[in-house]
Amino acid sequence: MIIFNSIEQLKSHLISIRDQKKIIGFVPTMGALHAGHISLVNKAKAACDVVFCSIFVNPTQFNDLSDLDKYPRTVENDCLMLEKADCDIVFVPEVMEMYTERELALKRQKVEDKSWTEGKEVDFGLLEKVMEGAHRPGHFNGVAQVVSKLFRIVQPQKAYFGQKDFQQLAIIKSMVAQLKLPIEIVPCAILREPNGLAMSSRNERLTTNERDIASIISKTLFKIKEQYNSSPISELKANAEARILKEPSIMLEYLEIVDAETLQPLNDLKKVKNAVACIAVKIGEVRLIDNVVLY
Ligand code: PAF
Repeated sequence: MIIFNSIEQLKSHLISIRDQKKIIGFVPTMGALHAGHISLVNKAKAACDVVFCSIFVNPTQFNDLSDLDKYPRTVENDCLMLEKADCDIVFVPEVMEMYTERELALKRQKVEDKSWTEGKEVDFGLLEKVMEGAHRPGHFNGVAQVVSKLFRIVQPQKAYFGQKDFQQLAIIKSMVAQLKLPIEIVPCAILREPNGLAMSSRNERLTTNERDIASIISKTLFKIKEQYNSSPISELKANAEARILKEPSIMLEYLEIVDAETLQPLNDLKKVKNAVACIAVKIGEVRLIDNVVLY
């Protein structure tokens, strides 16, 4: 496994791989890897000649600076896990390798920097107006900014994204379509802890007790799935919210039952088969999201 920190060195290595017509599978991450990430690497391994993983805690997608500071950073251990998973290339850039001073200054001033579209028309429309987009201003612009930069550097044929970030996946698919990038976006199923908690790098910040409590999140979503065809949406949402609110240490940010394509909230008059239940909560300082597809 080769580890690169510099874009220049990485690019010259990738040229020889492309010359050999090898299929590159890309797994972008922010590190603090867990079995969920490794399942993405394994999926890429099965379908590609070269598996490429990036580890970069992207400052422009954090709307809360303390969240950025506290994001777990475990690069050494991450690299050991990737080596064991037979990953071929790891890219671990510093912030100044990925961003110019100007781009970081715009972020600090909370100005939405659209330079990543390189003058093309990109509009996420209603996709970014709900859930994470509504609760984390600037988040998806930051995600699209870093992913488009990484796509331009790596030029993979396939890129792997976890379905835990359901809305992020929709945004990335939309970005790739609008920028007409020749990259196949491969969705990967959520991996769960034995108690049902969706695997996430942020789980590392939970105490054992909080992890136990957090099992209510997925239990609530699976209950919605069980009753989706037999109960009205208003009732499903009310019961789910009541269930979460009973747990005093969980703060509910949102719980939505949405159309899996448009991500717009459904109601009893507009109930589609292709739906997904999405949730965001805070346990102490730790923000967690999860979702369950209902079809
Ligand atoms: O899902 C993540 O870990 C991040 O949002 C991503 C896609 C690596 C971009 O920073």
